[in-house]
Amino acid sequence: MAKLSFHNICLLIVFFTSFLITDTCSGLLKNHVALFIFGDSLFDAGNNNYINTTFRSNYKPYGETFFHHPTGRFSNGRLISDFIAERAKLPLILPYLQPGIDHQLTYGVNFASAGAGALLETRQGLGIDLQTQLGYFKNVSRQLRKQLGDAGAKSLLSRAVYLFSVGGNDYTLPFEINSTVPHSYSPKQFVGLVIGNITTVVKEIYENGGRKFGFVNMLPISCFPSAKALLGISFGIRSTGGRCFEQITPYVKLHNKELPKLLQKLQSELKGFKYSLLPFYSFLDQRINHPSKYGFKEGKAACCGSGPYRGSRSCGGKRGVKEYYLCKNVSEYVFFDSSHPTERANQQFVNQSWNGKPTLSGSHSLKALFESY
Ligand SMILES: *[C@@H]1O[C@H](CO)[C@@H](O)[C@H](O)[C@H]1NC(C)=O
Ligand SMILES: *[C@@H]1O[C@H](CO)[C@@H](O)[C@H](O)[C@H]1NC(C)=O
Ligand SMILES: *[C@@H]1O[C@H](CO)[C@@H](O)[C@H](O)[C@H]1NC(C)=O
Ligand SMILES: *[C@@H]1O[C@H](CO)[C@@H](O)[C@H](O)[C@H]1NC(C)=O
Ligand SMILES: *[C@@H]1O[C@H](CO)[C@@H](O)[C@H](O)[C@H]1NC(C)=O
Ligand SMILES: *[C@@H]1O[C@H](CO)[C@@H](O)[C@H](O)[C@H]1NC(C)=O
Repeated sequence: MAKLSFHNICLLIVFFTSFLITDTCSGLLKNHVALFIFGDSLFDAGNNNYINTTFRSNYKPYGETFFHHPTGRFSNGRLISDFIAERAKLPLILPYLQPGIDHQLTYGVNFASAGAGALLETRQGLGIDLQTQLGYFKNVSRQLRKQLGDAGAKSLLSRAVYLFSVGGNDYTLPFEINSTVPHSYSPKQFVGLVIGNITTVVKEIYENGGRKFGFVNMLPISCFPSAKALLGISFGIRSTGGRCFEQITPYVKLHNKELPKLLQKLQSELKGFKYSLLPFYSFLDQRINHPSKYGFKEGKAACCGSGPYRGSRSCGGKRGVKEYYLCKNVSEYVFFDSSHPTERANQQFVNQSWNGKPTLSGSHSLKALFESY
């Protein structure tokens, strides 16, 4: 028999009546912790469906596992951010650009956009950059002050968790074919710009009342199926023996050294600042290289796409190339398409990091971050 808890009943009431929240329910709902989501395609739940871009995944076979229809998420099912919302007993957090989400703002909002980077130049016009996402957040915080009053909004914003996945597009773009962004910076300079821009955004959210920040560290993007395919194209060789695109690696390594330093620094400088740094790099690196240890059959090639490692961005057949391969059993794969994990990998990651022992001093588990004041 389906169990309908009091909390779920309240969610249903809120869902069907939009504004008419009963007193008991609003009391209960005050206890949830909102989730605001920023960044790139790892977390985009459909914002790009509403902008003029080719960076979209609102077509089959995206979304077939859990939603049974494409939603704009770059996976067969749910994302890391969806599983985090689930663990925090929140409904799915809606994309900012989806019309009519005003009545759901108290659960949080998803601003993430596929293609987005920390730098304005990164895929300009294709995704919503981090500065614009911040602008949208400020708009939402104004809306919340209208809905809840100053004190109510302040309490919601200070208890909320602000989740980020950003940087991957900045570091990959200069290496793409016909890139409009030159390689004119050293890794040290370039990582400095990315981390600097992230710092600005985090500080502005802090000034708007945010205190609790969650970050995934930089993924092993040089070993993604897309990077391996790019390596093949760049050097005009069909088979590169599975080598990773090592030119990107110094950026990834340095980012993963600088990000924890930044978070520790902010924690010591800003009163009440707390964070959770999630080691997605080592999680994926392990599964790419030793898939069977973690219950997967294939860690290197994607389930959906074409070419070597199915690393060309053809999943769904809507981006130029019409023909693509789709695997039979997506649960056997770590990657769904050329650069995004499967739902199963995403869920395994959140299962592991929700309660997980932080690997960095000063960092909290996600659970502790949501439960802290
Ligand atoms: C969408 O973007 C494309 C490519 O930049 C452009 O040619 C087209 O006019 C745009 N469409 C709209 C409706 O803005
Ligand atoms: C801010 O929100 C209002 C109301 O939802 C909307 O009309 C306006 O376009 C938004 N502004 C920005 C910059 O998103
Ligand atoms: C790069 O640009 C050249 C010249 O405009 C074009 O012929 C080629 O198809 C482009 N390559 C890719 C992968 O877009
Ligand atoms: C942010 O990035 C821009 C390039 O888009 C750069 O000019 C600027 O210095 C960076 N800001 C910081 C604080 O590093
Ligand atoms: C798909 O793969 C998963 C993981 O290896 C396995 O548990 C499941 O039984 C497979 N499903 C089918 C229909 O073969
Ligand atoms: C994650 O945890 C849930 C609940 O314990 C479990 O049902 C699910 O199978 C786990 N998922 C993965 C991919 O490990």
